Amino acid sequence: MATDGNTGAAQFLPGEPDLGSLREAAARCEGCGLYRDAIQTVFGEGPAKARYVLVGEQPGDQEDRRGEPFVGPAGRVLDRALEEAGIAREETYVTNAVKHFSFTMKGKRRIHQKPTAAEIDACRPWLDAELTAIHPSVVVLLGATAAQSLLGRSFRVTRQRGQVLPFHDALAVATIHPSAVLRAPDREQAYAGLLADLKVAAGAGSS
Ligand code: URA
Ligand code: SF4
Repeated sequence: MATDGNTGAAQFLPGEPDLGSLREAAARCEGCGLYRDAIQTVFGEGPAKARYVLVGEQPGDQEDRRGEPFVGPAGRVLDRALEEAGIAREETYVTNAVKHFSFTMKGKRRIHQKPTAAEIDACRPWLDAELTAIHPSVVVLLGATAAQSLLGRSFRVTRQRGQVLPFHDALAVATIHPSAVLRAPDREQAYAGLLADLKVAAGAGSS
């Protein structure tokens, strides 16, 4: 449901469904209010024939400045875990459930603010279009926002992480968000859990 001026991204979708056209069109999206304060749309990145699509929550401060997903601290955790799980960068397309940075100001700092359900719904057409264009073998859902965007709001990462789930004619594996590793009281344990789930995804993609 579109609320609070969240009219949704659908009306901004391009005529051509390829990734280049999608990226160009997404740069002009005003499907919800988040485009107003963020610097730019951060679209997904990676090869059009990627075997794995990784979906995060939304760009962070550094991603918003650079216009690329997962290039900040969470991205470094993710890069390391992917490498250790044996998932090659050339086989992965990385994106987010929401394509603009949502934040509040704390002094001069921009603090991450969780996107609302209406914003997540508004942005879904971009994620759906990316998945249709790429048609990956495995969709890796990094955290509750990504998992609930694609699998429904009753999905619980804590209960269903690390399971291979059917997702249209592909597979999905949910895990924690890499930034949860950075916030965890026991980082090593949290990282080990992320890695174990990514290994499940690696196995699902290679069979
Ligand atoms: N967190 C996300 O979910 N996505 C990014 O691109 C960066 C941090
Ligand atoms: Fe469009 Fe998504 Fe940005 Fe909202 S967050 S303006 S729906 S691209």
